[in-house]
Amino acid sequence: MQNRQQREVDDKLFEWMCEIRRHIHQNPELSYLEVDTAAYIRSKLNEVGIQGQTRLAGTGLIAETGRLESSLTVGLRADMDGLPITEETGLPYASVNPGIMHACGHDGHVAMLLGAAALLQQMDLPGKVRLLFQPAEEKGNGAAKMIEAGAIEGLAAIFAGHIDTHYPTGYFTVDEGIVCAYADPFIIKLKGSGGHAARPHESKDAILAVAGLITSLQSLVAREVDPNHAAVLTVGRVEAGDTHNVIAGDAHIEGTVRSTHPVARARMLSGLTRIVKGNAVLYGVKTDLEFPAALPAVINNASAAAVAAEAAATVITEGNILSQGPSSLGGEDFAFYLEKINGCLIRFGAQLSDETGSAHSSTFNFDEAVLPLGAAWYAQVALQFLQNSQ
Ligand code: NI
Repeated sequence: MQNRQQREVDDKLFEWMCEIRRHIHQNPELSYLEVDTAAYIRSKLNEVGIQGQTRLAGTGLIAETGRLESSLTVGLRADMDGLPITEETGLPYASVNPGIMHACGHDGHVAMLLGAAALLQQMDLPGKVRLLFQPAEEKGNGAAKMIEAGAIEGLAAIFAGHIDTHYPTGYFTVDEGIVCAYADPFIIKLKGSGGHAARPHESKDAILAVAGLITSLQSLVAREVDPNHAAVLTVGRVEAGDTHNVIAGDAHIEGTVRSTHPVARARMLSGLTRIVKGNAVLYGVKTDLEFPAALPAVINNASAAAVAAEAAATVITEGNILSQGPSSLGGEDFAFYLEKINGCLIRFGAQLSDETGSAHSSTFNFDEAVLPLGAAWYAQVALQFLQNSQ
């Protein structure tokens, strides 16, 4: 009887979370524009009886549950922004906002943290839990804005998980140490001088300079970084020229450097700077290099990772806890929190069939069966941390 009642409660929570996930999936919003998403989250927090919500960092939101008078507080974080991608999943709840899509699972993270909120409300907690709904993870600085606004003041630790379709549902990865890379986006502007396609000697060709530069930059990973330290440099955007018979005077490239070791990072960034300068001399152009939004690495501290694993063991059993192995070269702005306080970021397996696209693709989707597992872990890790800190 008890079991049947419990199952009904679990089924209801699952349905509630699926509805939330699908609503958010259908109505994605870009970084710092998560206005309706935040309003929807507020209404769902009200539904489970969590008042006293604070709006901060633009569209961000924090709320607390548990023993509110307690000075011991643990944080749980979900990100809530979509990406500038046109959805092609064909799902009945596909995005209705043209050119915007939840293609990284942040819709699921919101549903999980709300599910956790509902579970935490039913628990007798030996402390307080702060729920952080963070904007603009995809911009790489929503977490920094949350910190500036005071979102982690008084927190003893912070935990989060990310949906990951590389792993089957029912499996989590928990690791201590580095799990996401240093990410250093860069912008390079080259200024030559335009001219007639047939008279190159009267101009400085910015396209030739860019072509040389992109090729040279790829030697950084191959020749300047210790091969035992993972690093990658990607040029993701090139813009130059207007038409076939005009030599381009200007060019613009954007890219990112990823690395998993501080020494490799320093070598990559100093090497990039040197090559950009050298290339300018080589091609006789002026160059301007900018690093607009450096992101630190996510480094899970050992004691927080142990609590994360303890909580995972109660949700998915110890045998289903995996290691992700070497750090991902992806960036994750959860890193900013971990620069300030202890914490741990884990991954929730949520694999679907082979036809599903990867994260950040127009056909990305994940297994919704992960939602109750994620919610249970969020609630459990908070409880476990508070109990261990008594
Ligand atoms: Ni993400």
